[in-house]
Amino acid sequence: MRHIFINYRRQDSEGYVGRLYDHLVQHFGSECVFMDVDSIQPGADFLKTLEEAVAACDVLIAVIGPQWLTITDEEGNRRLDQWNDFVRFEIASAIKQKKLIVPVLVGQARMPSPAELPDDIAALSHRNAVELTHKRFGPDVEHLVSALKEIIPPDPSFKPQADTEIVRRKANALKAVRAELMSATDSPLYVFRVENGYFPVLGEGNPDANIMFIGEAPGKSEAEQGRPFCGPSGDVLGEMLGGIGLNREDVFVTNILLDRPPDKRDPNPEEIAFYTPYLDRIIDIIQPAVIATLGRYAMTFILKKFDLPEKRGKISDLHGKLIKAQAPYGEIHVVPLYHPAVVLYSATQKDTLRKDFEKLKTFV
Ligand code: URA
Repeated sequence: MRHIFINYRRQDSEGYVGRLYDHLVQHFGSECVFMDVDSIQPGADFLKTLEEAVAACDVLIAVIGPQWLTITDEEGNRRLDQWNDFVRFEIASAIKQKKLIVPVLVGQARMPSPAELPDDIAALSHRNAVELTHKRFGPDVEHLVSALKEIIPPDPSFKPQADTEIVRRKANALKAVRAELMSATDSPLYVFRVENGYFPVLGEGNPDANIMFIGEAPGKSEAEQGRPFCGPSGDVLGEMLGGIGLNREDVFVTNILLDRPPDKRDPNPEEIAFYTPYLDRIIDIIQPAVIATLGRYAMTFILKKFDLPEKRGKISDLHGKLIKAQAPYGEIHVVPLYHPAVVLYSATQKDTLRKDFEKLKTFV
Protein backbone atom coordinates (compact mmCIF):
# COMPACT_ATOMS: atom_id res chain seq x y z
CA MET A 1 0.00 0.00 0.00
CA ARG A 2 2.10 2.92 -1.30
CA HIS A 3 -0.34 5.67 -2.08
CA ILE A 4 2.01 8.64 -2.06
CA PHE A 5 5.34 8.62 -3.84
CA ILE A 6 7.69 11.51 -3.01
CA ASN A 7 10.03 12.29 -5.88
CA TYR A 8 12.85 14.68 -4.93
CA ARG A 9 16.53 15.50 -5.19
CA ARG A 10 18.39 15.27 -1.93
CA GLN A 11 20.75 18.21 -2.69
CA ASP A 12 17.90 20.40 -3.80
CA SER A 13 15.16 20.09 -1.25
CA GLU A 14 16.17 17.88 1.65
CA GLY A 15 15.26 20.38 4.38
CA TYR A 16 11.70 20.48 3.09
CA VAL A 17 11.30 16.86 2.16
CA GLY A 18 11.95 15.56 5.67
CA ARG A 19 9.29 17.85 7.09
CA LEU A 20 6.87 17.03 4.28
CA TYR A 21 7.43 13.30 4.85
CA ASP A 22 6.78 13.67 8.61
CA HIS A 23 3.49 15.45 7.97
CA LEU A 24 2.32 12.98 5.35
CA VAL A 25 3.15 10.06 7.63
CA GLN A 26 1.30 11.77 10.43
CA HIS A 27 -1.86 11.94 8.29
CA PHE A 28 -1.62 8.81 6.16
CA GLY A 29 0.74 6.47 8.03
CA SER A 30 4.26 5.35 7.07
CA GLU A 31 2.90 2.41 5.05
CA CYS A 32 1.30 4.87 2.69
CA VAL A 33 4.28 7.13 1.92
CA PHE A 34 7.22 6.06 -0.23
CA MET A 35 10.22 8.34 -0.24
CA ASP A 36 13.56 6.65 -0.61
CA VAL A 37 15.14 3.99 -2.70
CA ASP A 38 16.83 2.43 0.35
CA SER A 39 14.54 -0.53 0.13
CA ILE A 40 15.87 -1.60 -3.28
CA GLN A 41 17.71 -4.92 -2.96
CA PRO A 42 21.36 -5.08 -4.14
CA GLY A 43 21.47 -6.40 -7.70
CA ALA A 44 17.82 -5.57 -8.37
CA ASP A 45 16.91 -3.67 -11.53
CA PHE A 46 16.42 -0.30 -9.88
CA LEU A 47 14.54 1.27 -12.79
CA LYS A 48 12.11 -1.63 -12.76
CA THR A 49 11.78 -1.33 -8.99
CA LEU A 50 11.08 2.39 -9.27
CA GLU A 51 8.58 1.78 -12.05
CA GLU A 52 6.76 -0.72 -9.83
CA ALA A 53 6.81 1.70 -6.90
CA VAL A 54 5.30 4.42 -9.10
CA ALA A 55 2.73 1.90 -10.37
CA ALA A 56 1.69 1.15 -6.79
CA CYS A 57 0.99 4.78 -5.91
CA ASP A 58 -2.04 6.99 -6.42
CA VAL A 59 -0.13 10.25 -6.40
CA LEU A 60 3.41 11.26 -7.21
CA ILE A 61 4.59 14.38 -5.44
CA ALA A 62 7.40 15.99 -7.42
CA VAL A 63 9.33 18.25 -5.05
CA ILE A 64 10.99 21.02 -7.05
CA GLY A 65 13.60 23.14 -5.32
CA PRO A 66 15.72 26.03 -6.59
CA GLN A 67 18.36 23.78 -8.21
CA TRP A 68 16.03 21.10 -9.50
CA LEU A 69 16.27 22.20 -13.10
CA THR A 70 19.95 23.01 -13.31
CA ILE A 71 21.80 20.63 -11.03
CA THR A 72 24.67 18.82 -12.77
CA ASP A 73 26.79 15.72 -12.15
CA GLU A 74 30.59 15.72 -11.58
CA GLU A 75 31.19 16.09 -15.34
CA GLY A 76 29.01 19.17 -15.51
CA ASN A 77 26.13 17.48 -17.39
CA ARG A 78 22.62 18.42 -16.37
CA ARG A 79 21.11 15.57 -14.37
CA LEU A 80 17.69 15.95 -15.91
CA ASP A 81 19.14 15.30 -19.38
CA GLN A 82 20.38 11.85 -18.43
CA TRP A 83 18.18 8.88 -19.35
CA ASN A 84 18.68 7.17 -16.01
CA ASP A 85 18.30 10.20 -13.77
CA PHE A 86 15.91 8.79 -11.21
CA VAL A 87 13.97 12.03 -10.68
CA ARG A 88 13.26 12.24 -14.42
CA PHE A 89 12.64 8.51 -14.69
CA GLU A 90 10.05 8.47 -11.89
CA ILE A 91 8.18 11.48 -13.28
CA ALA A 92 8.26 10.07 -16.81
CA SER A 93 7.02 6.76 -15.46
CA ALA A 94 4.16 8.49 -13.60
CA ILE A 95 3.19 10.42 -16.76
CA LYS A 96 3.27 7.21 -18.82
CA GLN A 97 1.12 5.43 -16.25
CA LYS A 98 -1.31 8.38 -16.10
CA LYS A 99 -0.74 8.89 -12.39
CA LEU A 100 -1.77 12.07 -10.66
CA ILE A 101 1.33 14.26 -10.30
CA VAL A 102 1.43 17.16 -7.87
CA PRO A 103 4.45 19.46 -8.28
CA VAL A 104 5.44 20.93 -4.92
CA LEU A 105 7.58 24.05 -5.19
CA VAL A 106 10.00 24.72 -2.32
CA GLY A 107 12.74 27.29 -1.61
CA GLN A 108 11.05 29.82 -3.90
CA ALA A 109 11.54 27.61 -6.95
CA ARG A 110 9.37 28.33 -9.95
CA MET A 111 7.56 25.89 -12.19
CA PRO A 112 9.77 24.98 -15.18
CA SER A 113 8.43 25.60 -18.67
CA PRO A 114 8.04 22.69 -21.15
CA ALA A 115 11.00 24.00 -23.17
CA GLU A 116 13.27 23.58 -20.14
CA LEU A 117 12.37 19.93 -19.67
CA PRO A 118 13.25 16.74 -21.54
CA ASP A 119 10.38 15.62 -23.81
CA ASP A 120 9.30 12.69 -21.66
CA ILE A 121 8.56 14.96 -18.67
CA ALA A 122 7.57 18.18 -20.50
CA ALA A 123 3.93 17.55 -19.54
CA LEU A 124 4.88 18.16 -15.89
CA SER A 125 4.76 21.90 -16.59
CA HIS A 126 1.00 21.77 -17.06
CA ARG A 127 0.32 20.33 -13.63
CA ASN A 128 -1.03 22.69 -11.02
CA ALA A 129 1.64 23.23 -8.36
CA VAL A 130 1.47 23.74 -4.60
CA GLU A 131 4.04 25.89 -2.82
CA LEU A 132 5.61 25.04 0.54
CA THR A 133 7.45 27.71 2.47
CA HIS A 134 9.32 27.27 5.76
CA LYS A 135 7.56 30.32 7.16
CA ARG A 136 4.06 29.01 6.49
CA PHE A 137 4.93 25.35 6.48
CA GLY A 138 2.05 24.21 8.70
CA PRO A 139 -0.80 25.84 6.73
CA ASP A 140 0.88 25.13 3.36
CA VAL A 141 1.25 21.45 4.12
CA GLU A 142 -2.28 21.27 5.55
CA HIS A 143 -3.56 22.61 2.23
CA LEU A 144 -1.68 19.85 0.41
CA VAL A 145 -2.85 17.19 2.88
CA SER A 146 -6.50 18.23 2.44
CA ALA A 147 -6.15 17.93 -1.34
CA LEU A 148 -4.53 14.51 -0.99
CA LYS A 149 -7.28 13.33 1.35
CA GLU A 150 -9.75 13.90 -1.50
CA ILE A 151 -7.75 11.58 -3.73
CA ILE A 152 -6.39 8.86 -1.50
CA PRO A 153 -8.81 6.18 -0.37
CA PRO A 154 -9.24 6.51 3.42
CA ASP A 155 -7.89 3.69 5.55
CA PRO A 156 -10.39 3.33 8.41
CA SER A 157 -7.88 1.42 10.53
CA PHE A 158 -5.35 4.28 10.49
CA LYS A 159 -5.54 6.83 13.25
CA PRO A 160 -3.60 10.00 12.39
CA GLN A 161 -0.92 10.65 14.96
CA ALA A 162 0.82 13.79 15.95
CA ASP A 163 4.42 13.80 14.86
CA THR A 164 6.29 12.81 17.99
CA GLU A 165 9.31 15.01 17.32
CA ILE A 166 7.16 18.10 16.77
CA VAL A 167 5.07 17.29 19.82
CA ARG A 168 8.13 16.83 22.01
CA ARG A 169 9.65 20.13 20.90
CA LYS A 170 6.41 22.01 21.45
CA ALA A 171 5.75 20.34 24.82
CA ASN A 172 9.22 21.40 26.00
CA ALA A 173 8.65 24.97 24.84
CA LEU A 174 5.34 25.04 26.76
CA LYS A 175 7.07 23.68 29.86
CA ALA A 176 9.56 26.53 29.67
CA VAL A 177 6.72 29.09 29.53
CA ARG A 178 5.06 27.42 32.50
CA ALA A 179 8.29 27.50 34.51
CA GLU A 180 8.63 31.23 33.82
CA LEU A 181 5.04 31.88 34.82
CA MET A 182 5.46 29.83 37.98
CA SER A 183 8.17 32.19 39.20
CA ALA A 184 6.70 35.43 37.84
CA THR A 185 6.43 37.19 41.20
CA ASP A 186 5.37 40.43 39.46
CA SER A 187 2.10 38.82 38.38
CA PRO A 188 -0.96 40.65 39.78
CA LEU A 189 -2.30 37.26 40.90
CA TYR A 190 0.94 35.80 42.26
CA VAL A 191 0.26 36.52 45.93
CA PHE A 192 -3.30 35.21 45.70
CA ARG A 193 -2.01 32.05 44.04
CA VAL A 194 0.69 31.38 46.64
CA GLU A 195 -1.51 32.21 49.65
CA ASN A 196 -4.09 29.68 48.49
CA GLY A 197 -1.67 26.99 47.36
CA TYR A 198 -3.00 27.30 43.79
CA PHE A 199 -1.20 26.46 40.55
CA PRO A 200 -0.94 28.54 37.39
CA VAL A 201 -3.02 27.03 34.60
CA LEU A 202 -1.05 27.22 31.39
CA GLY A 203 -3.35 25.01 29.39
CA GLU A 204 -3.61 21.39 28.44
CA GLY A 205 -3.99 19.10 25.45
CA ASN A 206 -2.12 18.34 22.26
CA PRO A 207 0.84 20.75 21.95
CA ASP A 208 0.58 20.38 18.17
CA ALA A 209 -3.19 20.80 18.02
CA ASN A 210 -4.95 22.16 14.99
CA ILE A 211 -7.66 23.70 17.14
CA MET A 212 -6.99 25.82 20.20
CA PHE A 213 -9.69 26.94 22.63
CA ILE A 214 -9.25 30.03 24.76
CA GLY A 215 -11.53 30.59 27.73
CA GLU A 216 -11.61 33.29 30.36
CA ALA A 217 -9.80 32.36 33.57
CA PRO A 218 -9.28 29.33 35.78
CA GLY A 219 -11.83 28.78 38.53
CA LYS A 220 -11.16 27.29 41.97
CA SER A 221 -10.93 23.64 40.92
CA GLU A 222 -8.82 24.56 37.90
CA ALA A 223 -6.36 26.50 40.10
CA GLU A 224 -6.25 23.65 42.63
CA GLN A 225 -5.45 21.11 39.93
CA GLY A 226 -3.46 23.33 37.54
CA ARG A 227 -5.75 22.23 34.68
CA PRO A 228 -8.18 24.30 32.60
CA PHE A 229 -11.91 23.59 32.33
CA CYS A 230 -12.21 20.77 34.83
CA GLY A 231 -15.53 21.87 36.41
CA PRO A 232 -19.07 22.02 34.94
CA SER A 233 -17.94 24.28 32.06
CA GLY A 234 -15.37 21.64 31.24
CA ASP A 235 -18.12 19.03 31.06
CA VAL A 236 -19.96 21.16 28.51
CA LEU A 237 -16.75 21.65 26.53
CA GLY A 238 -16.15 17.87 26.56
CA GLU A 239 -19.70 17.23 25.40
CA MET A 240 -19.40 19.73 22.54
CA LEU A 241 -16.06 18.29 21.45
CA GLY A 242 -17.52 14.78 21.56
CA GLY A 243 -20.33 16.00 19.28
CA ILE A 244 -17.79 16.70 16.53
CA GLY A 245 -15.77 13.55 17.14
CA LEU A 246 -12.99 15.08 19.22
CA ASN A 247 -11.52 14.44 22.66
CA ARG A 248 -9.87 16.94 24.94
CA GLU A 249 -6.50 15.36 24.04
CA ASP A 250 -7.00 16.28 20.37
CA VAL A 251 -7.17 20.02 20.99
CA PHE A 252 -5.37 22.53 23.21
CA VAL A 253 -7.37 24.40 25.85
CA THR A 254 -6.19 27.49 27.68
CA ASN A 255 -7.45 30.84 29.01
CA ILE A 256 -6.89 34.58 28.78
CA LEU A 257 -5.76 34.64 32.43
CA LEU A 258 -3.41 31.88 33.50
CA ASP A 259 -4.07 32.28 37.24
CA ARG A 260 -7.34 32.31 39.11
CA PRO A 261 -8.69 35.78 39.96
CA PRO A 262 -10.37 36.07 43.40
CA ASP A 263 -14.12 36.11 44.00
CA LYS A 264 -15.10 34.63 40.64
CA ARG A 265 -14.74 38.11 39.22
CA ASP A 266 -14.10 39.06 35.57
CA PRO A 267 -10.52 39.55 34.39
CA ASN A 268 -9.38 43.16 34.85
CA PRO A 269 -7.28 45.13 32.32
CA GLU A 270 -4.09 44.87 34.41
CA GLU A 271 -4.40 41.08 34.56
CA ILE A 272 -5.18 40.81 30.85
CA ALA A 273 -2.15 42.97 30.05
CA PHE A 274 0.06 40.78 32.24
CA TYR A 275 -1.06 37.33 31.04
CA THR A 276 -1.71 37.82 27.34
CA PRO A 277 1.98 38.02 26.33
CA TYR A 278 2.24 34.49 27.79
CA LEU A 279 -0.81 33.53 25.76
CA ASP A 280 0.81 35.00 22.63
CA ARG A 281 3.80 32.74 23.22
CA ILE A 282 1.55 29.72 23.70
CA ILE A 283 -0.17 30.47 20.38
CA ASP A 284 3.20 30.86 18.63
CA ILE A 285 4.37 27.51 19.99
CA ILE A 286 1.25 25.55 19.10
CA GLN A 287 0.57 27.36 15.81
CA PRO A 288 -3.07 26.29 15.62
CA ALA A 289 -4.97 26.54 12.36
CA VAL A 290 -8.06 27.63 14.30
CA ILE A 291 -8.46 29.65 17.47
CA ALA A 292 -11.89 29.14 18.99
CA THR A 293 -12.59 31.74 21.64
CA LEU A 294 -14.93 30.89 24.50
CA GLY A 295 -16.71 33.99 25.74
CA ARG A 296 -16.29 37.67 25.04
CA TYR A 297 -12.98 38.28 26.86
CA ALA A 298 -11.10 35.79 24.72
CA MET A 299 -12.98 36.91 21.60
CA THR A 300 -12.10 40.59 22.09
CA PHE A 301 -8.48 39.85 22.83
CA ILE A 302 -8.00 37.62 19.78
CA LEU A 303 -9.88 39.88 17.36
CA LYS A 304 -7.76 42.83 18.52
CA LYS A 305 -4.55 40.81 18.48
CA PHE A 306 -5.03 40.04 14.79
CA ASP A 307 -6.41 43.53 14.15
CA LEU A 308 -9.55 42.16 12.54
CA PRO A 309 -12.33 44.41 11.26
CA GLU A 310 -14.73 42.60 13.62
CA LYS A 311 -12.70 43.68 16.67
CA ARG A 312 -15.44 45.93 18.03
CA GLY A 313 -18.18 43.41 17.28
CA LYS A 314 -20.52 41.77 19.78
CA ILE A 315 -20.43 38.07 20.55
CA SER A 316 -24.16 37.84 19.80
CA ASP A 317 -23.34 38.84 16.19
CA LEU A 318 -20.05 37.03 15.75
CA HIS A 319 -20.56 33.65 17.42
CA GLY A 320 -20.12 30.71 15.04
CA LYS A 321 -18.48 32.79 12.30
CA LEU A 322 -15.26 31.65 10.63
CA ILE A 323 -13.06 34.74 10.51
CA LYS A 324 -9.80 34.65 8.56
CA ALA A 325 -6.73 36.09 10.28
CA GLN A 326 -3.05 36.36 9.43
CA ALA A 327 -0.79 34.82 12.09
CA PRO A 328 3.03 35.13 11.78
CA TYR A 329 3.11 31.44 10.80
CA GLY A 330 0.33 31.64 8.19
CA GLU A 331 -3.35 32.16 7.63
CA ILE A 332 -5.64 30.91 10.39
CA HIS A 333 -9.32 31.10 11.33
CA VAL A 334 -10.80 32.62 14.44
CA VAL A 335 -14.15 31.23 15.56
CA PRO A 336 -15.90 33.13 18.37
CA LEU A 337 -18.06 30.88 20.55
CA TYR A 338 -20.20 31.46 23.60
CA HIS A 339 -18.58 30.50 26.88
CA PRO A 340 -19.68 27.01 28.06
CA ALA A 341 -20.75 28.52 31.42
CA VAL A 342 -23.38 30.60 29.59
CA VAL A 343 -25.13 27.52 28.28
CA LEU A 344 -25.15 25.59 31.56
CA TYR A 345 -28.75 26.45 32.35
CA SER A 346 -30.23 27.11 28.92
CA ALA A 347 -31.10 24.35 26.47
CA THR A 348 -31.53 26.92 23.66
CA GLN A 349 -28.09 28.43 24.22
CA LYS A 350 -26.63 24.98 24.40
CA ASP A 351 -28.14 24.19 21.04
CA THR A 352 -26.60 27.35 19.59
CA LEU A 353 -23.20 26.36 20.96
CA ARG A 354 -23.60 22.87 19.51
CA LYS A 355 -24.40 24.32 16.08
CA ASP A 356 -21.44 26.70 16.31
CA PHE A 357 -19.14 23.81 17.16
CA GLU A 358 -20.22 22.17 13.90
CA LYS A 359 -18.26 24.93 12.13
CA LEU A 360 -15.07 23.47 13.57
CA LYS A 361 -15.69 20.15 11.85
CA THR A 362 -13.86 21.26 8.71
CA PHE A 363 -10.67 21.49 10.74
CA VAL A 364 -10.93 18.12 12.44
N1 URA B 1 -12.54 27.03 33.52
C1 URA B 1 -11.52 27.57 32.80
O1 URA B 1 -10.42 27.05 32.78
N2 URA B 1 -11.78 28.68 32.12
C2 URA B 1 -12.95 29.27 32.08
O2 URA B 1 -13.10 30.24 31.36
C3 URA B 1 -13.99 28.69 32.83
C4 URA B 1 -13.76 27.56 33.54
